[in-house]
Amino acid sequence: MSTHKEIKRVTTHVLHEMKRRGEKIAMLTAYDYSMARIFDAAKIDVILVGDSASNVMAGHETTLPITLDQMIYHASSVIRAIKRALVVVDLPFGTYQGNSRRALDSAIRIMKESGAHAVKLEGGEEVKESVIRILSAGIPVMGHLGLTPQSIYKFGTYQVRAKEEAEAERLVRDALMLQEIGCFAIVLEKIPAALATRVSGMLDIPTIGIGAGGGTDGQVLVSHDLLGITKDFSPRFLRRYLNLYDDIKDAVERYIRDVRERDFPNEKEQY
Ligand code: KIV
Repeated sequence: MSTHKEIKRVTTHVLHEMKRRGEKIAMLTAYDYSMARIFDAAKIDVILVGDSASNVMAGHETTLPITLDQMIYHASSVIRAIKRALVVVDLPFGTYQGNSRRALDSAIRIMKESGAHAVKLEGGEEVKESVIRILSAGIPVMGHLGLTPQSIYKFGTYQVRAKEEAEAERLVRDALMLQEIGCFAIVLEKIPAALATRVSGMLDIPTIGIGAGGGTDGQVLVSHDLLGITKDFSPRFLRRYLNLYDDIKDAVERYIRDVRERDFPNEKEQY
């Protein structure tokens, strides 16, 4: 029997317990107050203030341009809406790589200025020192392995990662290392389902998959994709629950027509 609806406040401990009980974790991105309020009311477990805000909110081609100040702005808006969900915030590109002191400062700014509950950062061995330093300040860290969009110019494509044995074994080592140093969960993005299932079975901490099959402990999607606001992005792993792009466009076209035809406002819609 599921106990999801009885959870008053999702914490990292609750996620750990959910994995232990075999309950799946549902995570979605959100970047603003109004959307976060709806997701929280629907009882989403985790809200990720993802650096995908760079794409879907700001219209950049990659996640690289978004700044720490912009992430803090999005995160504070989300936090004001939340009563139940755990809120995790992405450390943006350039705020943690290669400098653990800077990583700690960035994570502290996010926690202090937005009120978020945890941070997420991309990478394995290469960000180990940064993760250790952030954890030493008592800040929960979610890892992110597989396709790591902040390294897009290194990979060159957004295709499935870790199909080759060497990369798969490195991912397994990184996942074990992130658990060992104290991460509370790991996102596995766009890797073969069999590998994600294997990693999830090896770890005590939960894995949250995106394009990684059904064997992970939870799933995450970018909310604009699930809601069909992004129209031209259709990877195999995406399930669209709405077609809001078309619905919103249709509503706006009807509004424009009503204004132009002097149908809006009518007598009842005025003082
Ligand atoms: O920024 C983001 O939305 C993410 C998810 C794709 C996991 O990192």
